[in-house]
Amino acid sequence: MKLFIDTANLVDIKKAYKIGVLSGVTTNPSLVAKEGVKFEDRIEEICQAVPQVESVSAEVTPEAITAEEMIAQAEELIKINGGDEKITIKLPMTLAGLEACRYLADKGVKTNVTLIFTVNQALLAARAGATYVSPFLGRLDDISEDGVQLVSKIADLFRIHNFDTQIIAASVRHPDHVTRVAMAGAHIATIPFSVIEQISKHPLTNQGIEKFAADWENTLKN
Ligand code: E4P
Repeated sequence: MKLFIDTANLVDIKKAYKIGVLSGVTTNPSLVAKEGVKFEDRIEEICQAVPQVESVSAEVTPEAITAEEMIAQAEELIKINGGDEKITIKLPMTLAGLEACRYLADKGVKTNVTLIFTVNQALLAARAGATYVSPFLGRLDDISEDGVQLVSKIADLFRIHNFDTQIIAASVRHPDHVTRVAMAGAHIATIPFSVIEQISKHPLTNQGIEKFAADWENTLKN
């Protein structure tokens, strides 16, 4: 399973890229709003900060309701950073979003259909030619449904019917989500930097490092 980072924060993106674990970046209107920056400028900065990844998701803004409006925005977004091929147009899971997805997919533009909460929504998005679908597991868990089970069912569906569409497990809140979506067959998990940090740690790793340091210190004294 590949790892994307789910943020528009450049510092976090650069930190994750530097450790060599990143295959992509996802952003959404809420994440960009949190940064207080111009959307297109930030997408360009992100593309430049992560030259070797496969995808940088740029979501159409909430003003785009019709497929035509989404396509018009997408056509501007794909010009960013000299027409960077990493740019992936993130579209809401609506009939208009699906129509825009089909249009962009036929033009060879990467797409990510977001806000997926059922297997049938993932089926529709895959049929509309989506490069990626983003089931939001944390938000399902928040309403006492099983987000990981949704990822697992979508993975089965895509395997049975040989879809090329990749599953990005999104709305990942903690380390256990990461392990469980990897085992459930997600192709990608998009996670905040705080979760990348958390999954790098274990108390026994720290204890081990301290013990090695103490023993080494004793060796130097002898
Ligand atoms: C994914 O693409 C979304 O940006 C994100 O994972 C949403 O997560 P949240 O439910 O924590 O806002």
